[in-house]
Amino acid sequence: MALLIKNIRELFGTCKGQAVKRGREMAVVDSVKGAFLFAENDTISSFGRMEDLPAELASARTGIEIIDASGSFVFPAFCDSHTHLVYSGSREQEFVDKIRGLTYEEIARRGGGILNSARRLHEAKEDELYLESITRIHEIAGMGTAAVEIKSGYGLNTEDELKMLRVIRRIRENCPLEIRSTFLGAHAVPAEYRNDRDVYINQIINEMIPLVASEGLAEYIDVFCDDGFFTVDETDRILAAGSKYGLIPKIHANEIGFSGGVQVGVRHNALSVDHLERSGEEEISVLSESDTIPTLLPGSALFLGLPNPPARGMIEAGLPVALASDYNPGSSPSGNMKLIMSLGCIRLKMTPEEVFNAVTVNSACAMGVQDSHGSVSEGKSAGLIITKEIPSFGFFPYAFGSDLIDKVILRGKVWKAAGA
Ligand code: NIG
Ligand code: FE
Repeated sequence: MALLIKNIRELFGTCKGQAVKRGREMAVVDSVKGAFLFAENDTISSFGRMEDLPAELASARTGIEIIDASGSFVFPAFCDSHTHLVYSGSREQEFVDKIRGLTYEEIARRGGGILNSARRLHEAKEDELYLESITRIHEIAGMGTAAVEIKSGYGLNTEDELKMLRVIRRIRENCPLEIRSTFLGAHAVPAEYRNDRDVYINQIINEMIPLVASEGLAEYIDVFCDDGFFTVDETDRILAAGSKYGLIPKIHANEIGFSGGVQVGVRHNALSVDHLERSGEEEISVLSESDTIPTLLPGSALFLGLPNPPARGMIEAGLPVALASDYNPGSSPSGNMKLIMSLGCIRLKMTPEEVFNAVTVNSACAMGVQDSHGSVSEGKSAGLIITKEIPSFGFFPYAFGSDLIDKVILRGKVWKAAGA
């Protein structure tokens, strides 16, 4: 099957290659005005200006689905490089507790938070967990996401961590999104090990990591390296154990305190360090000497009322900032990447061009899918967003509550059409 999108008002994200955009490069979005795009099977075969549309395509009538995108912009679909979207149930009672004044750490200390989700996940059968999670996948696909990283971390024992990772594998086999999987056994210390943390950490190192690797269930390994969760030394040990099995770090760092998480992540060549609400000059300077991608999660900073990470300082220091949703039941119950773009503008003072690069090419790099996703390039997967008629590129993140997506194309096929 082939797809021809013609009369595109402007086709954005046509940057060549797979390279992450650093610092000032983030202000540039390549585009073609008055464009066509042609995809065969699930891959972009060609694109360019309408006047260069090959005659045989212009006159083709059979075997090609034709979309007339007059008045619309076309973007590469989003890459969401940090989520926890496999979970059971929801936590709106804690939402109310937070409204009444409790902090995330206080809720966690009472056995709420991650441990609350772990209890629910334990009760859920694998099939139920799959159905709940694939519903979320369908939801984010409709909002324009074509690639998503998903973490374990609500199992917190060998059996339940493997259950989560197998659900992620099943999602991967049954949906058109590109999926990457991260083992996050070190998300929280279960209550029974509170006074004997090393027992749990040794279980992660000696039992979980070898099994995750032997079943090929994850590409990445994550640790919640933060005050009240895992220390720098513990993170160090866990990442070192993961690296023996080829698991690349992508870690939670500096959400609650200046935890040293950025430094330990960089020391272990992490692909990304994520959150970073508590970051200063030292963290920025350590990141500048590395290839680690700082990934900011403005949905959870908004939901928890955290300070904003210094996105501008990072961009001015030449770093390649990525943005992701952190879709999870406790700190960011939304996988809406268009909203994440708006929060990047409103709260992090990034421009529309910068947030666009942060949710496409840079987030593709932050989850290792830049060879197939994150830009409009020949040979990449045809994952695209066709906007409704909007006045300008900047209107997309500006109108933060409006659904401005007319169609989502995943692997060359229409996934969502407005009103459908
Ligand atoms: O990224 N910070 C740690 N983990 C998640 C929250 C998980 C939860 O509260 O369920 C996060 O915010
Ligand atoms: Fe997270």
